[in-house]
Amino acid sequence: MAVKFGMIGGGVMGEALLSRLLQEKKYAPTDVIVSDPAAARRDYLQEQYGIQVTTDNAQAAIASEVLMLAVKPQVFSKIVAELAEKQLLERPLVLSILAGVTLNALETGFSGYPVVRVMPNTPAIVGQGMTAIAPGTLVSPEQIELAKTILRQSVKSWKCRNL
Ligand SMILES: NC(=O)c1ccc[n+]([C@@H]2O[C@H](COP(=O)([O-])OP(=O)(O)OC[C@H]3O[C@@H](n4cnc5c(N)ncnc54)[C@H](OP(=O)(O)O)[C@@H]3O)[C@@H](O)[C@H]2O)c1
Repeated sequence: MAVKFGMIGGGVMGEALLSRLLQEKKYAPTDVIVSDPAAARRDYLQEQYGIQVTTDNAQAAIASEVLMLAVKPQVFSKIVAELAEKQLLERPLVLSILAGVTLNALETGFSGYPVVRVMPNTPAIVGQGMTAIAPGTLVSPEQIELAKTILRQSVKSWKCRNL
């Protein structure tokens, strides 16, 4: 089934953002796929939110609108290497919440993709966060608005600068 929103890593922060996106009906559950290696985590997310789940990160990466990266920062290079091996035709907006992974590293790893680095803080988990966003060079004004819309559910304000 075609998906609009893919997420790699369905942990604490990914779930917090996803739950609000679904609550606010930005996406329907059928629009969303999350990849995560842990079967218990996948089962939980599928049961709780009615979304699609997979172990295959490439499945999340072929979402038509957004690919959100929500893994631990040390997993980033593994994801980049894994996806580079596949011939992926879609170039969704890549939204990364990975602490310490710079915009430059994101644009290098996801060469040719529009990339936005976002940095939510922990209160985002209860919908009271504040998020800094840093758009890459290939991001259109519409995609910046899309990134803000996606984050609006969990933050109260944004700051835009190069991180
Ligand atoms: N928590 C915060 O307050 C906060 C705030 C701002 C930014 N962030 C950023 O958010 C990101 C996620 O943090 P988190 O606290 O949500 O971590 P987390 O709960 O550990 O979530 C990460 C998820 O990714 C999964 N994963 C591991 N390897 C993977 C792979 N190769 N492919 C797909 N999924 C994989 C993990 O599964 P396993 O557990 O089985 O390894 C886990 O379910 C981090 O980069 C962090 O810097 C977090």
